[in-house]
Amino acid sequence: FSVTDDLREPIDELTRLKDMEAKTREIIQKYQAAMREMEVRFEILDQDLNLKKHRNPIHHVESRIKKPASIFEKLGRYGKQPTLENMERYIMDIAGVRVICSYIHDVYNLLELLRKQDDLTIVTVKDYIANPKPNGYRSLHVIVRIPVYFLDKKELIPVEIQLRTVAMDFWATLEHGIRYKASEEVPDSIVHELRECADVITDTDYRVQRIFKALQM
Ligand code: GTP
Ligand code: MG
Repeated sequence: FSVTDDLREPIDELTRLKDMEAKTREIIQKYQAAMREMEVRFEILDQDLNLKKHRNPIHHVESRIKKPASIFEKLGRYGKQPTLENMERYIMDIAGVRVICSYIHDVYNLLELLRKQDDLTIVTVKDYIANPKPNGYRSLHVIVRIPVYFLDKKELIPVEIQLRTVAMDFWATLEHGIRYKASEEVPDSIVHELRECADVITDTDYRVQRIFKALQM
């Protein structure tokens, strides 16, 4: 939040900051509401698949609201001023929901089920399962807009959804931890080894999926 350095009366400044705080709270509350609605949609899909197909595609769901520091760091990377308007316009992952599935086909099946929900807008789909990142990262990233109803209005709030298998989550969590722990850049040898681990995990993901399909017959 840019505090301008013009010489206003302190009382004006206080009013301005209070106003800013109120607006920030309102925004966070909005994204929290959208995140909760999205979590419930996944719960309902999981329950219905359990009831009708005896399947539990979702292992578990995690969600988070992005910290203000990360929001402003990202705006900086995008070359945007750290304002509330820019935060809502450019940051699509203020609300994040991570859906950890049992099998790869569950990930794609859930995407299809989201596409069928006619009040949801799919903004982008990035398929890092079909096209893994060079370091070996795999997941399906989807940005959706979900309607949230308030006292006086309806708003379509963006939520970032990361769909991945337990195996992909295992790799991503450890890789994130290693990158975070290494205070500098991770050495090439470790990057290479992590990539090899990702390849083994990918292979395992397909093997267990084949076992599951063979058992279904
Ligand atoms: P940012 O990476 O957030 O700046 O935005 P982006 O638009 O490039 O999104 P991207 O598709 O790269 O995915 C962003 C999110 O995916 C991150 O916040 C992480 O949660 C996850 N992610 C992306 N790449 C990696 C990775 O290499 N390792 C791990 N562990 N997580 C990743
Ligand atoms: Mg990125």
